Amino acid sequence: MREFFERRPELKVITYAGKGGLGKTTCSAATAYWLAIKKGKKCLCFSTDPQASLSDIFERDIFGKGVQSFGPGLYVLEIDADKRIADYQEEIRRRIKEMYGLDEIPKEIDEYIKSAAAEPAMHESATYDAMAELLAKGEYDYYIFDMPPFGHGIRMVSMAFILDAWIDKITEARMEAQKYREAIELLRGTVEMEREDMMLKDLMEIREKLDFFRDVLTDEKRSAFFMVIVPEKMAILDTERALDMFAKLDMRLSGIIVNMVYPVSLLKRPDVGPYLRNRIKMQQKYMDIIWDKFGDYIRAVLPMYDREPKGLEMIARVAEDLFGWSPEGEVWWREQ
Ligand SMILES: Nc1ncnc2c1ncn2[C@@H]1O[C@H](COP(=O)(O)OP(=O)(O)OP(=O)(O)O)[C@@H](O)[C@H]1O
Ligand SMILES: [Mg+2]
Repeated sequence: MREFFERRPELKVITYAGKGGLGKTTCSAATAYWLAIKKGKKCLCFSTDPQASLSDIFERDIFGKGVQSFGPGLYVLEIDADKRIADYQEEIRRRIKEMYGLDEIPKEIDEYIKSAAAEPAMHESATYDAMAELLAKGEYDYYIFDMPPFGHGIRMVSMAFILDAWIDKITEARMEAQKYREAIELLRGTVEMEREDMMLKDLMEIREKLDFFRDVLTDEKRSAFFMVIVPEKMAILDTERALDMFAKLDMRLSGIIVNMVYPVSLLKRPDVGPYLRNRIKMQQKYMDIIWDKFGDYIRAVLPMYDREPKGLEMIARVAEDLFGWSPEGEVWWREQ
């Protein structure tokens, strides 16, 4: 990991993806810690997931409370996506009322607004939008996005293309509509184009923000995507799928972190019983497969700790293990 970061001085966005509960949040926190505390950079670690989240690992309730500091350069933000969606809804209502001079939103329209906000994709869009906004402001050296486990987190990249195409279409439609409106207003002799321009201006701004985010996300110099896996069959299948997805998008996965690996030295200890021995042997089998299949991608192997990695002290330890790991170092994870 250290070498990876040293070789990419322009890196801005780091994302950990992977199935639920394998260590994305742990790696995100450790990465932010390393870059901020050890490298003196200004970092923002971001998530939206109120469960098993940054609040949990940093041991402070930060959900929906804005940017919080945990040391020099180490900033953590956990946004409340539901609140963000509710705020959007309110803003849409306000604008409709303002535009059409209404005191109240017609029932059918309000129902439409409500049902659109209830869409599961809305949560993803709100998250994506929050991320794009943060990046556009450019206040940090690094952005570490701790993704919830929805279909890989890698979906975020495809989302960049989808949202972009979508906003292009709406802008186009809006421009087309404006042409007709102008013609009608010309005929009527009224000039009432200002509010239409406002809408278009909004759309243009959104497009600019999303374009910028997409450009950064799809630029290998500025963005890195890491998969967190464990030595188990499902994780291997998942990684193969993720690699396929990346290939389809013409992108490359930046690396794989193998987490929760039992040190093989345990096998030499007489106090380790057959139960744990079996699990260690099972992991060994999958470690070999992981090495065969994804050898070039492995950026670090993290041990299974004897406790949950929580609190700054443990985060610091994970950071040491993550950034101190080298394929040339001591091989503690595989029998020689
Ligand atoms: N190497 C490790 N050794 C021991 N426990 C670990 C290790 N890595 C993570 N854990 C613990 O496993 C649990 C899941 O880790 P984490 O929350 O980082 O996963 P996640 O991928 O972010 O999960 P989710 O998909 O739910 O967001 C946590 O309780 C964490 O403390
Ligand atoms: Mg998590």
